[in-house]
Amino acid sequence: MDTIIGIDLGTSTTEAAVYQDKKPVLLLNYDGKEVTPSVVGIDDSGNVIVGERAEAQLLLAPGRTVREVKRLIGVSEEVEMGKRHYSPVEISSMILSYVRNYASSYLDMDISRAVISVPAYFDERQRQETMEAGRAAGFMVDRIINEPTAAALSYGLEHMDEESYVLVYDLGGGTFDVTLLEMFEGVLEVKASSGDNQLGGKDFDQRLMQYLTGQFQDKYGIDLTGDPYAMARVRDESLRCKIALSTQEEYRVQIPVLATKEDIPYAMDEVVTRAKFEELILDLVTRTHEPIDVVLSDSGISAQQLDKILLVGGSTRVPLVRRDIEAYFGKKPEVAVDPDYAVAQGAAIQAAIISGQIDESSEIVMTDVNPYTLGIRAIHGYDDDYMSVIIPRNKTIPTTKKQKYYTSWDEQTSAVIEVYQGESSSVRYNHCIGEFTLSGIPSKPAGMEAIEVSFSYNQNGMLQVTGEIVSTGEEVSIDIDMLNTKEKRIDVSDWKSSELAGDYRGVIRRAEKWMKGHEGDQRVDELLYQLKKAILEEDESQAEELGDELQYYTGA
Ligand SMILES: Nc1ncnc2c1ncn2[C@@H]1O[C@H](COP(=O)(O)OP(=O)(O)OP(=O)(O)O)[C@@H](O)[C@H]1O
Ligand SMILES: [Mg+2]
Repeated sequence: MDTIIGIDLGTSTTEAAVYQDKKPVLLLNYDGKEVTPSVVGIDDSGNVIVGERAEAQLLLAPGRTVREVKRLIGVSEEVEMGKRHYSPVEISSMILSYVRNYASSYLDMDISRAVISVPAYFDERQRQETMEAGRAAGFMVDRIINEPTAAALSYGLEHMDEESYVLVYDLGGGTFDVTLLEMFEGVLEVKASSGDNQLGGKDFDQRLMQYLTGQFQDKYGIDLTGDPYAMARVRDESLRCKIALSTQEEYRVQIPVLATKEDIPYAMDEVVTRAKFEELILDLVTRTHEPIDVVLSDSGISAQQLDKILLVGGSTRVPLVRRDIEAYFGKKPEVAVDPDYAVAQGAAIQAAIISGQIDESSEIVMTDVNPYTLGIRAIHGYDDDYMSVIIPRNKTIPTTKKQKYYTSWDEQTSAVIEVYQGESSSVRYNHCIGEFTLSGIPSKPAGMEAIEVSFSYNQNGMLQVTGEIVSTGEEVSIDIDMLNTKEKRIDVSDWKSSELAGDYRGVIRRAEKWMKGHEGDQRVDELLYQLKKAILEEDESQAEELGDELQYYTGA
């Protein structure tokens, strides 16, 4: 079995871990450190550099150095580095390549598989781009795991026999994530998660920078904001100041020769008190409240019911943040064992579950996500092919979701529940994985009888679908083995006989070749099947869409 590593690809820093001797172990980079700054640069000779070396040139060569690229993932924006423009995926893949190299050299084996963490609040596109960055770095990405889930997993491994509601509060460099989990008998279940993709320590730094440059302007009438070199120095000092203020009451910012006016040099010399800093960031800290409220109300768990508030992320070291949490929840938060490493450790634990190093039945069980959207056929306006979504793709499992439907015509006494899997809004293009009939509906005018359909997806990959006639309580249910849904597929081996086949031969051949090194990649496997099916059915637009998607995933 291949070794799979866990990677916390953070806004400010990146860490990697592997599961060894029954615990997650941090991997050391070429500088002998656990933590690698998420900074990429081009050095004087035009080579790509990552980590501390890139961070070191931030001041000297801000135009050749990129930081905090994670904030741009999933956003169509390019970054300039040196003379070239790069996509956020390319920059991220340089960081991941660096990780792959040092992990391979540290472990003395070729590492090519990884679990990569992302903020729980990342959308589908941001997840896909993260996965793409992993692939571009030469990894097979076994799983994208949510950061707070990973943090809870590393905590859970040590507190397996406790029963509790744990709220993970992760305030990092660029993102805020809050997740509520329930732990019982070694099972970790994500109840709800929310957050803010654009809130973190970086914003604290910016407030300090604004303040310091404002002071400078007031004192000397010099505007520093257009001078990237000066701004890089102010940013550097702002960061130092912020970190110092986590442990001391004041900090003196001193930057010699920051600017010159009429040949006279001006230095920055400003004392910042903790109180001043807190005033500058108060509204940012208060912005964490809304996602917290969402998580509590979505999970139906009150602040009083929480057993533990677990702090993760470097920015939770800010004293105001801790005070705010304590005041808001009425409870003292607890610091994760290793707040900086908890996510990477959790990702390594998830990796070990996938590789079989951790036996799920005897040790820890993690909630997983379903890779495809699940729903039923429903009537929507004039469309009777409508895919009514019950469990959206990438929903954490185990999960149970219910939805109510109403009778569509007068005296309707039975309903056929057709269960589909797939991403199209039309069931025609999705994959029917089961069906059953619910009869005995009391005869009434249309819309007067309700049927509640519930989908329960457990961690063993079983989907139980139940239809209940609300007025009588009568119900019928079926179990669908999601790991075996392939058997119910139609035979597509004859796709080459279709007129469309010529256009897709290359794509399919490349994807099939790609699959040889990636057995078990369900998503690509499914896409291949769907594409062949669309070709057989001569559905051009569907085939084109699927063909593009397939190329995207396999890089073919
Ligand atoms: N002692 C400290 N006091 C205040 N802030 C700190 C301290 N140490 C680190 N930070 C801040 O924590 C942030 C980095 O935290 P962390 O490494 O958890 O983030 P990340 O994982 O890189 O980012 P994210 O999770 O948002 O993608 C930075 O903004 C850093 O300045
Ligand atoms: Mg983080």
